[in-house]
Amino acid sequence: MTDVLSDEVARFVRAAGPAPDDTLREMDEYAAEAGFPHVGPEVGGTLTLLARMTGARIVFEFGSGYGYSAYWFSRALPDDGRIVLTEIDEDELEMAREYMRTGGFEELAEYELGDALEIVDRYDGPFDLVLLDHQKRRYPEAFDAVRSKVPVGGAIVADNAMTAGSIQFETVLEILETSDRDPDRRDADLTADVPNDATDATRGIATYLATVRDDPAFETIVLPIGEGIAVSYRTE
Ligand SMILES: C[S@@+](CC[C@H](N)C(=O)[O-])C[C@H]1O[C@@H](n2cnc3c(N)ncnc32)[C@H](O)[C@@H]1O
Repeated sequence: MTDVLSDEVARFVRAAGPAPDDTLREMDEYAAEAGFPHVGPEVGGTLTLLARMTGARIVFEFGSGYGYSAYWFSRALPDDGRIVLTEIDEDELEMAREYMRTGGFEELAEYELGDALEIVDRYDGPFDLVLLDHQKRRYPEAFDAVRSKVPVGGAIVADNAMTAGSIQFETVLEILETSDRDPDRRDADLTADVPNDATDATRGIATYLATVRDDPAFETIVLPIGEGIAVSYRTE
């Protein structure tokens, strides 16, 4: 994980935040050993908090991995809540099932194996909270797919809003600083002047961030924890 915070500040945020339970600790150990890019405890605690603050009942995840982010969300869901986990890797999804069972969240979860962009079309919503954590180049597509399914008072959280191995931080920053804040701007207009050597992930993240920033129905803030998360709250 390409952390935004220094180790010391991350430790501080962790020490002041909610305590992970034994299962989450085990999941953190797995991420460290396997080098798996989970969202980490700072973002995890924020997901729980967002679920509590929005009174979320239904959550949809794009890219659930082995269930780490879903586990943090689930801590704040009511007994009749739902969380849809999507994952293209069968082994990861099986691990998620095991961990969610261990945490006592089995009843909340629906497990969907396959491409999240195809799966989401089978769900009408509403989704009180959505997590984007799949292929970065496809975040704009994912936003289009869920925009109308997130009600006022709901929110979309995008991980890797600031960093990831494949994201060119300076390029994203330049696009955000130089793009006009036009809600009618098309994605193609935004990325036309992006340098040729920009990665697809860079284009995807820059396009996504500018799109949610300029969408009048959402209020967006990027929180510099983990690899950066963009929280877009639906206001109208
Ligand atoms: C960064 S990891 C997810 C981490 C997870 N949210 C967590 O915090 O532990 C991204 C995951 O998305 C999965 N993925 C990639 N493309 C996908 C797609 N189109 N649909 C569903 N899952 C996808 C990958 O297999 C990988 O496990």
